[in-house]
Amino acid sequence: MTDLSVKIGSLVLKNPVMVASGTFGYAEEFKDFFDLNQIGGIITKTVTLEPRPGNAPPRIAETASGMLNSIGLPNVGVEHFIIEKMPFLQPLSTKIIVNVAGKTGEDFVEAVVRLEDVDRIDAYELNYSCPNVKEGGLTFSANAAIAEQVTRNVRKVTNRPLIAKLTPNVTSISEIGKAVENGGADAVSAINTLVGMAVDLGKKRPKLSTITGGLSGPAIKPVALAKVFELVQNLSIPVIAIGGIMNATDALEFLLTGAVAIQVGTANFINPRAPLDILEGVRDYFDKNRIDGISSFIGSIKT
Ligand code: SIN
Repeated sequence: MTDLSVKIGSLVLKNPVMVASGTFGYAEEFKDFFDLNQIGGIITKTVTLEPRPGNAPPRIAETASGMLNSIGLPNVGVEHFIIEKMPFLQPLSTKIIVNVAGKTGEDFVEAVVRLEDVDRIDAYELNYSCPNVKEGGLTFSANAAIAEQVTRNVRKVTNRPLIAKLTPNVTSISEIGKAVENGGADAVSAINTLVGMAVDLGKKRPKLSTITGGLSGPAIKPVALAKVFELVQNLSIPVIAIGGIMNATDALEFLLTGAVAIQVGTANFINPRAPLDILEGVRDYFDKNRIDGISSFIGSIKT
């Protein structure tokens, strides 16, 4: 059996299949569907310093080959997260990556400081890219100087690996990627959702309460592949792929393009076992093709 382990800075995943923040709750919700320890990592729903109710409904709309969401980062806040959510995650043997966001740069730093004493957090994913909130969100990943400074400030308070989650809603994603690399990020994850809108003709209204939301699912996979490729070409730190990964073929395409690992997102809403199915498909591909190590496959695309 091929060794599927991959390295993201000092973080070693047993395999490259993770679940994307916001599509897998705090993992307990999925515990009856498969053995969570089989996948490479779990990325929690975003945690912020203070609890947030999220946006008013409707906050989900189905679109052709995709889904629009405008959830608005609802979460229990960092203190409740530590008390209520971490006890389920701590005994797991997969990697636990806590996704953190804030209205301000200081919020990111403060939330990470509170999480630093908590056992079994293996890394942080800094959510610089939620398109659905008025304060924070895209402010951080649409401006290279801000993205670099916030990353540098968080870097000062933790030795744990930092993954910066980037938005495609910018002119140059690699400029922002370079900035977070300079600020001390160990990796980037890309892409978060694309800003989109859906209209209800009958009601003559937008389908989402916030008018626009974030588009995910198969519709965005080609955009994600292009952005991942651009990041891989321009950065020295690893790139983790997100964007319409529905099956093993999708995952393998991103690995071939140079991503060291992948996150399964929208697929979880259709098939809660999708991460395991994808992992099994990736493993089968490597075994059938007698590929010795995953590292020789990653980035081996012929251009
Ligand atoms: C949301 O909660 O609005 C989605 C999360 C995100 O896009 O980062």
